[in-house]
Amino acid sequence: MSILITGGAGFIGTHTCVELLNKGEDLVVVDNFYNSNPQAIKNVKKITGKELKFYEANILDRGSLVKIFEENNIESVIHFAGLKAVGESVQKPIEYYTNNISGSLVLFDVMKQFNCKKVVFSSSATVYGNPEKCPITEDMPLSTTNPYGTSKLYIEQILRDIYVSDKEWGIVLLRYFNPIGAHTSGLIGEVPSGIPNNIMPYISKVASKKLEKVNVFGDDYNTPDGTGVRDYIHVVDLALGHLNALDKIRKEQNGSFTYNLGTGKGYSVLDLIKTFERVNNVEVPYEITDRRPGDIATCYSDPTKAEKEIGFKTVKNLEDMCRDTWNFEQNL
Ligand code: NAD
Ligand code: WQD
Repeated sequence: MSILITGGAGFIGTHTCVELLNKGEDLVVVDNFYNSNPQAIKNVKKITGKELKFYEANILDRGSLVKIFEENNIESVIHFAGLKAVGESVQKPIEYYTNNISGSLVLFDVMKQFNCKKVVFSSSATVYGNPEKCPITEDMPLSTTNPYGTSKLYIEQILRDIYVSDKEWGIVLLRYFNPIGAHTSGLIGEVPSGIPNNIMPYISKVASKKLEKVNVFGDDYNTPDGTGVRDYIHVVDLALGHLNALDKIRKEQNGSFTYNLGTGKGYSVLDLIKTFERVNNVEVPYEITDRRPGDIATCYSDPTKAEKEIGFKTVKNLEDMCRDTWNFEQNL
């Protein structure tokens, strides 16, 4: 019996594959390398000393997915494959909705065809929109402000509806907060194409002098130092959360469950820059600029439900996240 990992060559997918392989699981990975490359899969094997079965395919291609299910005994799926750049999604809504929503529909339909009814889905804290309060609990209102977020919200709803229609499904929706960091081996991490949109890859590029300075998007928010506050979670902690989620639907019960995966702590942009400089003994020049349209002041999770129901608790702190990111950057 194998677990199918869609998007398994990506940032979070590779880290999750490592943890699953270390636990002795059999993995089948599908990725079209739209935002990743074959080296990432080689590095997963190198870190673990284990093999996995890889298919280069687009999840929109039903024939490829059917072949994967025919050739393997897939018992559950962790579904990472998707496009994730918020700004780009505003420019390319058709591409985002097609890839994320249509791709997911093809996947769920093929799962149904093969009677595979266990899925863990990568959702995002973006589905909380501009939250009325923090920390954010799973029952707070959902809304989105861009096609990327809307695609996540729709896929969540599609999965909830699938469960309503057939109570044999086991579904876990994981709402990630801000994943950063890298594997301690320095072999896998986040490799954004072009100039990074997200803060941590940007800081890393500035520290290595590939970019001149960090533009800090606003210091007039209602936060302790005026810069935006987020719940940064180490990608290895996040990866381990998928093992907890899978355990729940494999061993325990069917149902549709939703969990925040975050640390519950909020750090500002300046906290991140200062910690990165201190831990790694590097300089990260920055300049305060205008706010980025669409940004919110503060976003951090209440992680209580995930701890209570699936035993998920983060162990890595902001210093680990900064150290591991820099270690990976220096290996590039
Ligand atoms: P990533 O881009 O590194 O990984 C996604 C992988 O999916 C890539 O390897 C890409 O090539 C692949 N892919 C995309 N479309 C595909 C398709 N149609 N068929 C096959 N493969 C396809 O992104 P990530 O950071 O690892 O994110 C993984 C998931 O988690 C995504 O669904 C993302 O939306 C979600 N998520 C990410 C974050 C974040 O900040 N990184 C936060 C919340 C949620
Ligand atoms: C973090 C903080 C910025 C860049 C995004 C998506 C979200 C999720 C995670 C997928 C904010 C500030 C940033 C820069 C800055 N992804 N910043 N200068 O916006 O919280 O979340 O990634 O699901 O959906 O929206 O993350 O890293 O872009 O920003 O000052 O160059 O850093 O204003 O306060 P964000 P981020």
